[in-house]
Amino acid sequence: MSTWTLPTASGSYVVGFAPDDQGLVLHHWGGPTETEPPAPSLPRRAASFVRDVDLLPMEATALGTRDVHAAEIVARRADGVRGLRLSLAGEVEHRVEDDGGTWLVCPLADPVAQVAVELHLRSHPSHDVITKWATIRNDSGHAVELLRGWGGAFEAPTGEGAQVEVRTGAWSRETTASVVDLTAGTLSVGSRQGITSHTAAPVVTVRPRGVPDGDAWSVALAWSGSWRLAVDVVMVTGSVRIAGGPDDESGVLTLRPGESLVTPTLAGLWAHGDADVVANAWHAYQRTLARSTGPEHRPVVYNSWYATTFDVRLEHQLALADVAAGLGVEVFVVDDGWFRGRTSDRAGLGDWEPDPAKLPDGLAPLADAVRERGMRFGLWVEPEAVNPDSDLYRTHPEWVHHVAGRPLRTLRNQYVLDLGRPEVEEWVSGTLRQLLTSADISYLKWDMNRAITDGGQRTPGGDDWSWRHTQAYYRVMTMLREELGHVTVEACAGGGGRIDLAVLEHSDVVWPSDETGPRDRLAIQHGFLGVYPSWVMSSWVTDEPDVLDAEHASLDFRFVVASAGVLGIGSDLLGWDAATRARAAEHVTRYRRTREVVHTGQLHRHGTPAGRAYGVTYTLGDRAVVLAWRRDGGALAVTLPGTDPAGRYRIVWGSGQVEERTGDELLSGLAVPWSWGDCDIAELVRL
Ligand code: DGJ
Repeated sequence: MSTWTLPTASGSYVVGFAPDDQGLVLHHWGGPTETEPPAPSLPRRAASFVRDVDLLPMEATALGTRDVHAAEIVARRADGVRGLRLSLAGEVEHRVEDDGGTWLVCPLADPVAQVAVELHLRSHPSHDVITKWATIRNDSGHAVELLRGWGGAFEAPTGEGAQVEVRTGAWSRETTASVVDLTAGTLSVGSRQGITSHTAAPVVTVRPRGVPDGDAWSVALAWSGSWRLAVDVVMVTGSVRIAGGPDDESGVLTLRPGESLVTPTLAGLWAHGDADVVANAWHAYQRTLARSTGPEHRPVVYNSWYATTFDVRLEHQLALADVAAGLGVEVFVVDDGWFRGRTSDRAGLGDWEPDPAKLPDGLAPLADAVRERGMRFGLWVEPEAVNPDSDLYRTHPEWVHHVAGRPLRTLRNQYVLDLGRPEVEEWVSGTLRQLLTSADISYLKWDMNRAITDGGQRTPGGDDWSWRHTQAYYRVMTMLREELGHVTVEACAGGGGRIDLAVLEHSDVVWPSDETGPRDRLAIQHGFLGVYPSWVMSSWVTDEPDVLDAEHASLDFRFVVASAGVLGIGSDLLGWDAATRARAAEHVTRYRRTREVVHTGQLHRHGTPAGRAYGVTYTLGDRAVVLAWRRDGGALAVTLPGTDPAGRYRIVWGSGQVEERTGDELLSGLAVPWSWGDCDIAELVRL
């Protein structure tokens, strides 16, 4: 056999042998094909100065095999053998998995360097997604440095150049989408911070230039340390090559004789349609990563951080819990400030015991009292962090990331523990185990509040610090799943600093941003929902004024924004009067009644948050939820995909006003009546 087809839900991914046994090349990635896609051929003008393999859409290649265009593996053996000249090292294995997915394994090797690369491709039959990764093994007697150790590339036939959608940002404005018109060269996004970062999200979407709603190819990297994704225009063949993996500027992975590693997975999605089609296709695939998407691991949260900051006191927390319970909150979370010495952000991180001055009898009385009020109890931790002013740092100063000979630098007054050191990983796992079994705790918010600068250890070497740290982070998260499966884990990194496919797999919900000002939040959520799903998008109602988004927005507006994901409340509830509490309870009740639609329905975004009116709708079978916002008297009419023209629908608006409409009428647009002036919400059900 010389070609292999990996069927996807509505198309296929077809690969065949590259010339001279140099690996696999892509024949087709996209929709259905009537005939067998031919092997890629090169135009005549490609003949000079390059070899075929320099231009062909190789599935994975190495510098030394391909030298003119980008390659995914750049290796250097300690004795001076540079690069890898890869060729087939055995039969390509093709198997159909129990779930109907196809798995292809292609063994490659360089007999001179004595390095083996096993390329894995897998299709997911209910999705138009291919995942790809590689195992790289050093069979030589010398150390091999991987200056770049990526698991392969995806090549998209976009024509000359591509329109590339990336998500970049900063703290408080994460996941801002922009479209780059890439006509030549390489577009590169990434993080050198040891975490996924607020700066860029590891997912890019490419389309033919000027065609915003046709074929789209989107590639996401499942990696939560330093990373890079590169989109490279291959001028001659009319395609773009998308590859990525651990950052190749700030890190080097070393394989000692006999060692191997498995690269992070790249997921490649093909879709046909606009940005919402791509979004829904990603969400559907991401459902396969989640352990569950039901309400059990995405409860309505009350988090007391904004109400109390570091001033955590039992009676005060219980007073808040009393109100939260009355609102219909399902889990009460005590954020930063509960542990020994934590009176400000200058001290305490690392000393994960209840502060005796604040909680003299420990956490159990607080957790039990919260339980008695009908809620679960949750706790904030930042296990990778340590303040210089902590017993942990005084005892183990050698545990922090630290480049040999350089003075340490703090950010938010803290250092980062080198989780890649086995003793640190063991300590973090043990501490979490002990903490989570010390009281009735079933929700954990895992925070990480600084970029890792000066990664590594005091001793020479250690260029793989981000790799080791990230692998250990996954192991600890896996331990939580396996040993403490009842605990819901919220992943946070000073807002949305660590969100990617791997985090989605290891956690239940994520905190997209510290910015909760509702207009800013809409923009962040708009970008977030384009690549990540509503059922992980933790979103809180907080008090006014917001520091960054100071313009007034009604309580309803803030609730409607937060109801687009996993609703939470972060306000000082003791400052809410009876009317505010009653209105909030109505919102929570409505949200709990409709969240199944929000969390499992199809997303559609209407307009942009920067416009005068904007809406997000979720549709699930015969039900729909409409969430809409406006400013300056803007108007909005939404159409709901999937509406049956022959159907009859009942619509209940936020004001309680009820309408009935035929599907035909709905298809010409449902005008939002703006129940609360600046926003509205509607529940639709087919009669
Ligand atoms: C940053 C988080 O994003 C906030 O929600 C809060 O938990 C603070 N850290 C606490 O220090």
